[in-house]
Amino acid sequence: MSDDAIESVLQETRSFPPPEAFAAEAHISSEDQYQQMWERAKDDPEGFWGELATENLDWFKEYDSVLEGAMPDTKWFVGGKLNVTHNCLDRHLTNWRKNKAAIIWEGEPGDTRVLRYQDLHREVCRFANVLKQFDIGPGDRVTLYMPMIPELAIAMLACARIGAVHSIIFGGFSADAVAERNNDAQAKLVVTADAGWRRGKELPLKAAVDASLEKSPTVEKVVVVRRTGLEVEMVPDRDYWWDDLMATASTECEATPLDSEHPLFILYTSGSTGKPKGVLHTTAGYLLGTTMTSRWVFDLKEDDTYWCTADIGWITGHSYIVYGPLANGATTVMYEGAPNYPDEGRFWNIVEKFGVNIFYTAPTAIRAFIKWGDDWPGQADLSSLRLLGTVGEPINPEAWMWYHRVIGGERCPIVDTWWQTETGGIMISPLPGVTVTKPGSCTRPLPGVVPDIVTKDGKSLEDNKGGLLVMRQPWPSMLRTLHGDHDRFLETYFSEIPGAYFAGDGARRDEDGCYWVMGRVDDVLNVAGHRLSTMEIESALVSHQNVAEAAVVGFPHDLKGEGICCFVTTTDGGESEELKAELIAHVRQQIGAIATPDQIRFAAAVPKTRSGKIMRRLLRDIAAGREEVGDTTTLEDYSVLSKLREEEE
Ligand code: PRX
Repeated sequence: MSDDAIESVLQETRSFPPPEAFAAEAHISSEDQYQQMWERAKDDPEGFWGELATENLDWFKEYDSVLEGAMPDTKWFVGGKLNVTHNCLDRHLTNWRKNKAAIIWEGEPGDTRVLRYQDLHREVCRFANVLKQFDIGPGDRVTLYMPMIPELAIAMLACARIGAVHSIIFGGFSADAVAERNNDAQAKLVVTADAGWRRGKELPLKAAVDASLEKSPTVEKVVVVRRTGLEVEMVPDRDYWWDDLMATASTECEATPLDSEHPLFILYTSGSTGKPKGVLHTTAGYLLGTTMTSRWVFDLKEDDTYWCTADIGWITGHSYIVYGPLANGATTVMYEGAPNYPDEGRFWNIVEKFGVNIFYTAPTAIRAFIKWGDDWPGQADLSSLRLLGTVGEPINPEAWMWYHRVIGGERCPIVDTWWQTETGGIMISPLPGVTVTKPGSCTRPLPGVVPDIVTKDGKSLEDNKGGLLVMRQPWPSMLRTLHGDHDRFLETYFSEIPGAYFAGDGARRDEDGCYWVMGRVDDVLNVAGHRLSTMEIESALVSHQNVAEAAVVGFPHDLKGEGICCFVTTTDGGESEELKAELIAHVRQQIGAIATPDQIRFAAAVPKTRSGKIMRRLLRDIAAGREEVGDTTTLEDYSVLSKLREEEE
């Protein structure tokens, strides 16, 4: 990147206005309405968000002020008391929605469960009482390491009901990663399952928890859901079966009134340096953000069946499978397994089976669907779909067009939603009844979101100049801190561009005010829509006895968006296929299957600048097999380069 601007090469001229019939029925249905909302939120954020909070959330005690402080340290709805689960459950029980499906769940083997709002409420109350019985109270941290089963949603809501803070760890992380997160959060209790189903195989979870507990001493109790029947070891007075506990738990549990800024959850995400960051979200602002964005972006209607295919272990699942949809009283679909089990038509069968109207997935999944061929979606009735969404990475225009044509039947608007774990909710996205969409652009900021594109010095750039994406104004669902490390929070997000939130992405804004996100500008990879830190993978590699030094970079990957390429210098110069396999297994053991390296390349030395910085751009060029390797004038040792190129052969 040059000092001033990032070069942007993508030129896309196709555009798609919203279908008239869709716009006529949409929650936000005209350009004027959007403009008015956006201007109002920009000029009078307190008035704008205050009105929405009063109208759309149930409060046990009204707040005194909408916003206190300025970025980075803001407090929203100060003095107010509320409970997220009262808003997601109890308030729907006073009307006909009590019998509406809250969660429609499908297990990978094909078993299904439907939990009506009153069923979900009852189960959440029960598990909240179980947590209380184990002396879990407001502020205590609870780790959830579970498959995509209803008990995961029940456990997270049970935590929220009593003010405990959940920390969900995606099932693809290893025991070591679980231990690290348990320790950082000082978790008191872990909820897990014997195993989950993945492509017909049992993915053991309890065994990983057992291994993690050898290294995470703060955990006192473990609750285990029986899912697959896999045999597990149960340690007396530490491990308990979910169903045993639930059988005797009372179904009555009042929702605890909590301060607006009471912590709701911690979710770990990768950063460019050091250990994973515990992004902390709080109660009222997060709830309001996810409630409003679910309604605006997904245009949720009372009779919609809505399906977000993410795993709840990621922020997308937190915000748009559980909290946002349930706060709106919507019906949310949850699926346990893989998209290609028992065959590549599984997702489309689910759409047909449940009559899904709104479908939200990731570009990496769309690329896989394209590869599997049009026949699979062609065999299912997809006519129920009315709106499509994407999230997690920039979508390539051709994948967008395929999604539009083959899945959307050229009638469904597509919302390409840009946001992050840290933002809590969607920030930049089309409004499906208003926005003229362009393949590859997440289009315009939602009301309350004031982005800018700036140089490294914080100077605003004109249209069509690539630069750093920042937020100029605070918004209710933004992260409040990194758990236990407020300095790192300030340093990571607010030191780069003083006075603004820096997202870590490069982007440009076009002449219509549409944003085109170009990807990360830091040392973070986006592998299949998931953030992984090059530095974390490097330290995992270096912790292997045969590795002296490692440098990890991303390279373009057809399906995953970015693949992981590791340059490794061994301690004794030894290089073998066996060692490659061992290193791959080692990274999986340290971080988890999601971080599995795609390439290991042995190198005599890692190329560094004279000041000792790894020359990542050069390595990226080599990993991608590009002929031109760019500027190497600052390279410390030229012989390193020829050796690396040899490795390519
Ligand atoms: O680089 C952006 C990319 O994903 C990052 C956020 O990752 P994570 O916190 O794991 O959350 C993913 C789900 C919200 C961003 O910094 N990203 C996410 N959505 C988009 C995107 N890049 C381009 N277009 C998107 N729609």
